[in-house]
Amino acid sequence: MFNKLSLKIGLLFFIFILIIEAFLFSTLYFTLVNERVDEVMENLLARGETHSDVLEDSFEEMTLEHVGMMESASDFIVVITDETGEILVNSDALEPEMLEVLGHTDFAAVPIDGEIIEENWQDQRYIATDSPITIDGVHEGHVFMFAPTDNIERIIDHLKSQFLLVGIITVLLTIGTILLLSRLITLPLIRMKEATEQLSQGNNHVDLTNERNDELGELANAITKLSADLDRLKNARNEFLSSISHELRTPLTYIKGYADILARPDTTEQEREEYMNIIREEAAHLTMLVGNLFDLAKLDRNQFTIEQRDVSIAELLGSVAVLVKPAFDEEQIELSMDCSEDMQASIDPERIQQVLLNILDNARKHSMAGDRVVVECCREIDGIAIRISDEGQGIPEEELPFVFDRLYRVEKSRSRERGGSGLGLAIAKEIVESHGGRIRIDSKFGKGTAVTVRLKRGGDHS
Ligand SMILES: Nc1ncnc2c1ncn2[C@@H]1O[C@H](COP(=O)(O)OP(=O)(O)OP(=O)(O)O)[C@@H](O)[C@H]1O
Ligand SMILES: [Mg+2]
Repeated sequence: MFNKLSLKIGLLFFIFILIIEAFLFSTLYFTLVNERVDEVMENLLARGETHSDVLEDSFEEMTLEHVGMMESASDFIVVITDETGEILVNSDALEPEMLEVLGHTDFAAVPIDGEIIEENWQDQRYIATDSPITIDGVHEGHVFMFAPTDNIERIIDHLKSQFLLVGIITVLLTIGTILLLSRLITLPLIRMKEATEQLSQGNNHVDLTNERNDELGELANAITKLSADLDRLKNARNEFLSSISHELRTPLTYIKGYADILARPDTTEQEREEYMNIIREEAAHLTMLVGNLFDLAKLDRNQFTIEQRDVSIAELLGSVAVLVKPAFDEEQIELSMDCSEDMQASIDPERIQQVLLNILDNARKHSMAGDRVVVECCREIDGIAIRISDEGQGIPEEELPFVFDRLYRVEKSRSRERGGSGLGLAIAKEIVESHGGRIRIDSKFGKGTAVTVRLKRGGDHS
């Protein structure tokens, strides 16, 4: 029932709260006890003073007896002496402790005000006060008042039992609150632990969504999101694997089929040549596909080394143009570039060249003879943008969100004829993003496509 965390939290809280409670209770207890004892002492002294006042008015046998009689009915004991300590009246029988107090009194010294002469209520049986009787400036005697200390002890005992009761109730309430609190904290944690265990066992449908808006609630929601992400990743991986095996199987089937035909003795020299070419093309396609897959795997594991440095965009575009121009010329597609000389970006030129080559290759593949492909650069607030637009066939709107997905081709059969495997834009996106940049594609079906690559600015003057 108790798990470790709740026990730890609970015990810690309990000890802290117990210390605080003990401190508060003992302070309160001692203050109350002192107040009560002081009150009893003050009362006793005031009573003695009243008697001495009465006796100062009339210091006679009758008054003395009257005072003695009054106190004989009360809990207190009065002893009246003359100025030398000779006992004149005592309300109750004198106990040895009282005589001891009287014996300690210095009758030679003339007291002015009443005072407490025995206040040790813990050890003595009586507390005592002494009020002098002074008539017309002449010291005539003393009124000694005694109060049994068991009175005080009774009050203190009562206080003690009240404190004990309240203390026990407080401790029980504290324990209850702590148990509740620690369950409140640890229950969701236990559920999350179980959920993550399920995740690691392969069950990706974990739902911990809740209404709590504290850190625990956020953690639970994060785990739910993680499980959904894992699920998506798993599906994506499965889809990717089946697409790859399909991609690999097709060229391999061609290669095997044509190799079998080649092995036949009745193939002519011309046929041989033709089939060998097909085998070569398919092998080249396979090599390219595997190379691209390797690139993606490296990008995924962050092993793709990107060495960023300040590069002139115009120069980079120039070298890209040299590479793609022949293919564009062959298909009679016009290629124009517009980029100011001083524009610089902080990039790895080889990687970005790879990106641009792929985008231009796409633009060419999807354009017709006579179309135009335009490459423009422009400065933006936090970087530069390279835009490659074509007037080709465009991409249907519903396909647009997927073109950056791996192995995604809009027109599966036609693209394959042209040698595409649907990895180019996926790799381009990874490369641009690992430069801290962004890539986007806009397209109108039948009108054309524009791909924009945004990169960090390089140098100070760009
Ligand atoms: N400029 C474009 N015009 C029309 N469709 C495009 C254009 N660029 C990309 N596409 C579509 O997006 C798909 C994905 O492009 P991507 O570059 O990733 O793959 P690919 O060119 O088919 O193959 P690869 O680049 O791996 O050789 C393409 O198959 C194509 O259908
Ligand atoms: Mg491509």
